[in-house]
Amino acid sequence: MISIRRLHKRFQVSDGVVAAIKSLDLEIAEGELFVIVGASGSGKTTLLRCIAGLETPDHGEIRIADKVVSSDHPPTWIPPQQRKLGMVFQSYAVWPHLTVSQNIALPLAEGSQKIPRKEVAARVKEALHLVQLEEQADRPATLLSGGQQQRVALARAIAVSSRLLLMDELRHPRSSRGDGDRG
Ligand SMILES: Nc1ncnc2c1ncn2[C@@H]1O[C@H](COP(=O)(O)OP(=O)(O)OP(=O)(O)O)[C@@H](O)[C@H]1O
Ligand SMILES: [Mg+2]
Repeated sequence: MISIRRLHKRFQVSDGVVAAIKSLDLEIAEGELFVIVGASGSGKTTLLRCIAGLETPDHGEIRIADKVVSSDHPPTWIPPQQRKLGMVFQSYAVWPHLTVSQNIALPLAEGSQKIPRKEVAARVKEALHLVQLEEQADRPATLLSGGQQQRVALARAIAVSSRLLLMDELRHPRSSRGDGDRG
């Protein structure tokens, strides 16, 4: 499903260069639940952003479902919206001016996939059910607890893609009900 070869990613900072990913090789099979554990600053978010297409790697190759999405040799770049994956960000990235349902629907309705309105409604309903937020569907997303907001972000990613889901520091939904702590 995901195949990574010799991935390198460095960042220029004011006092030098940070090597966030150094020659990483990785194989993740279809259907596999793959967890990366590492110290703060060790490059986990950078790796997810490289897979999603939100960072440009310096070297190496990333394949998703046997398709090269990023490579320096030969130079290849598939933009994020064409990689057909869902991502839950560490900061949730829930839109404050939208309701829970609208948050989940937005990438479906406005994204590159151009999904018919009826199917958008069905996918939103299914995703709301999966994360147990049906009761909060019409509430403004910012009035939810931290854990509930994270479930909105999870539902949004599930609704976009059933193929590949990238989750940055996600807690189990049941353990996060009603609180806003990081875990
Ligand atoms: N845009 C950026 N510009 C400069 N340095 C960056 C940038 N993004 C990340 N870094 C640096 O790259 C390294 C890896 O960061 P990253 O966010 O991938 O870590 P992480 O493993 O996700 O950490 P955490 O567990 O704290 O979320 C860190 O040293 C970080 O400061
Ligand atoms: Mg991180």
